[in-house]
Amino acid sequence: MINIGNRTLINSKDIFSKAIEQKYAIGAFNINNLELVQSVVEAAEESKSPVIVQVSPSGKKYIKNNYLIKLIEAALESTTIPLVLHLDHGDSLEVCKECIDLGFSSVMIDGSSLDFKKNIEITRQVVDYAHTKGVVVEAELGKLSGIEDEISVENHEGIYTDPQKAVEFITRTGCDSLAVAIGTSHGAYKFKQEPKLDFERLKNIKEMVGNNYPLVLHGASNVLEESIKMNNNFGGKIEKAQGVPDFMIKEAINMGVVKINVDTDTRLAFSGAVRQYLNQNPTEFDPRKYLGVARDTVKELVKNKIKLFGSENKS
Ligand code: G3H
Ligand code: 13P
Ligand code: ZN
Repeated sequence: MINIGNRTLINSKDIFSKAIEQKYAIGAFNINNLELVQSVVEAAEESKSPVIVQVSPSGKKYIKNNYLIKLIEAALESTTIPLVLHLDHGDSLEVCKECIDLGFSSVMIDGSSLDFKKNIEITRQVVDYAHTKGVVVEAELGKLSGIEDEISVENHEGIYTDPQKAVEFITRTGCDSLAVAIGTSHGAYKFKQEPKLDFERLKNIKEMVGNNYPLVLHGASNVLEESIKMNNNFGGKIEKAQGVPDFMIKEAINMGVVKINVDTDTRLAFSGAVRQYLNQNPTEFDPRKYLGVARDTVKELVKNKIKLFGSENKS
């Protein structure tokens, strides 16, 4: 596990237990560069909130392992908050093992595209390796992407998470948390019609897996109107984008979700700030200027998320 001086990463066990007990959620924010790391970590520090910094396999490739590790060490040195480094959507046993060996404190193995048996098999293998090193494992059951495109929301059996199967999956794999499919999807175009999530299913899953078991919500960005405007008013072309409204996020937390993944909202805020700055300052070409504004904008957004999730002052 990455450590520096007397500061070390934590896995999410204790922060999830506390969050379940007090009914709030921990934000998990995707990072892949210096500015994103700084904005997420500084927002959490100023909000006195635990935070999960996560990186996808493609994000990891972009930032490069040695830079990532040094940035996380710097984040640990510069803050006092409980910090988790998590692999988001690990797509093989190899990448999960690599991240565990690099010092991540949490990994996700995403076997959701596999059949039930194969998903169990690969998740079990990751769990066996991770647990010997004190690393926790998130897994996924059900499919998140393109639900509305494939099938009507009234007929989503086989795509959304089956509560009964969730129990069997957790028992057979030993995974520490489970990402559920209840109608969210990744990206900026989540709903073609009115936003709708299957809360009845979430309630059933929670009842079946037990109150103390951590559930995770992916594809949970709001897709804020002001971020879309900031992009579109200054040269962007992002049309018909729609995300999960705040009241649904609150409802999900109320029903037992403890980890909420956000990537699209930070991407939109970052890009919107850069677009606006360059558009309004056409003679400027110093990256520190527009990246600085982007960093401040994302930091503000993360602070607002932390408030919404209820993890402020919980560090
Ligand atoms: O859920 C996926 C995340 O938004 C990461 O996306 O693979 O483009 O880094 P990415
Ligand atoms: P969004 O695309 O809604 O931000 O979801 C991100 C996510 O689930 C990362 O794993
Ligand atoms: Zn995701």
